[in-house]
Amino acid sequence: MIVRNVLVTGGAGYIGSHACTELLQANYRVVVVDNLSNSKAESLSRVEQITGKPVQFYQADIRDKQALTDIFSREAISTVMHFAGLKAVGESCEQPLNYYHNNVYGTLVLVEAMRDADVKQLVFSSSATVYGESVHVQYTEDFPLGPINPYGRSKAMIEDILRDLSAADTISKVQNPWKIALLRYFNPIGAHESGLIGEDPNGIPNNLMPYVSQVAIGKLAQLSVFGDDYPTRDGTGIRDYIHVVDLVKGHIKAIAALQGERFNAGACRAYNLGAGRGCSVLEIIETFERVTGKKVNYKIAPRRVGDLAECFANPERAIMELDWKVEKNLDDMVSDAWNWQKKNPEGYV
Ligand code: NAD
Ligand code: UD1
Repeated sequence: MIVRNVLVTGGAGYIGSHACTELLQANYRVVVVDNLSNSKAESLSRVEQITGKPVQFYQADIRDKQALTDIFSREAISTVMHFAGLKAVGESCEQPLNYYHNNVYGTLVLVEAMRDADVKQLVFSSSATVYGESVHVQYTEDFPLGPINPYGRSKAMIEDILRDLSAADTISKVQNPWKIALLRYFNPIGAHESGLIGEDPNGIPNNLMPYVSQVAIGKLAQLSVFGDDYPTRDGTGIRDYIHVVDLVKGHIKAIAALQGERFNAGACRAYNLGAGRGCSVLEIIETFERVTGKKVNYKIAPRRVGDLAECFANPERAIMELDWKVEKNLDDMVSDAWNWQKKNPEGYV
């Protein structure tokens, strides 16, 4: 069997480390580039422990063109999975330049290095954040885009750049055209079932699931439920939570799809990766308490600025074209998140 080398940018991070695990288990060879700005190299040692296979790690910034050029000349890369980026919405409002520089400029440097090395298959971590507010709560890929914060806009800008890049190749009918999958994640939670890798947020978490876990383990005193007066079934916000392992399986399917007929002449296509159903904040708390037997101390607080009442994916396109679907349910997500939290109360120390 031919072993294909995949370059994973941001491979030491939460989703990237799960992707490395899944790639190695699917017999790909994994090369990681990460500047460790929001992660620790220990995550990659854990990936090696789970899979019994090595990861080739380069500590470098994707904005360092020379470093990328060296990696492409040393490793015979066939495909790039691009996770590297900053992802905190609030921080992006305070430091927009940092977000545009890291995410947008970083991607420009990466795709230039890819073009120079004639590596033109890319799976990109986009986000449901690129969608604007809509009267519909179930999003399909052709909904108008209209992100409302710098983080979301950085993702939408990158999508535009990648679409333009692909369109240019299609017009000039080049031999090796860009083949790009834009994967729009809904709300990834959970962890690998081993409990060896998981989400290790810096400081106080912004997102619901790590916050709930840290309240349950006693690191944080109380969860604030942001709003109970939304027009939803119990008044709290509804989101489409997806197990991180299901999410990264979608990436493996995307690599396979890039080899298929749909991408033969080159294409750049977006796919929603979500379960296609929503859960409320209270449902998450109830599930957590039932599955783990731990009490989650919470209070109702005012709505968080910028939050939508309800949104979830229409994942039909990914189901049909990537031959992918979620396999894990909310109980699995919660129990795996808790397993990781229990085994690593201080994260990767
Ligand atoms: P993460 O912060 O855990 O991982 C990102 C990794 O990229 C980190 O290891 C970080 O050190 C690295 N990195 C950042 N900037 C870099 C740079 N300039 N050069 C090299 N490495 C760099 O985040 P994550 O949750 O794993 O998210 C991965 C990707 O998925 C991100 O692009 C994020 O925007 C996107 N995404 C995440 C979510 C989510 O809920 N976690 C949702 C939608 C989209
Ligand atoms: C947030 C980001 C989004 C990003 C996603 C990644 C914002 C506005 N949006 O989405 O850009 O792609 O994370 O997963 O930050 N909640 C509480 N208490 C908390 C935390 C959250 O009640 O302490 C509620 C929220 O109001 C929301 C739900 O839990 O209804 C999920 O929140 P969160 O995990 O932060 O994800 P999103 O807001 O969907």
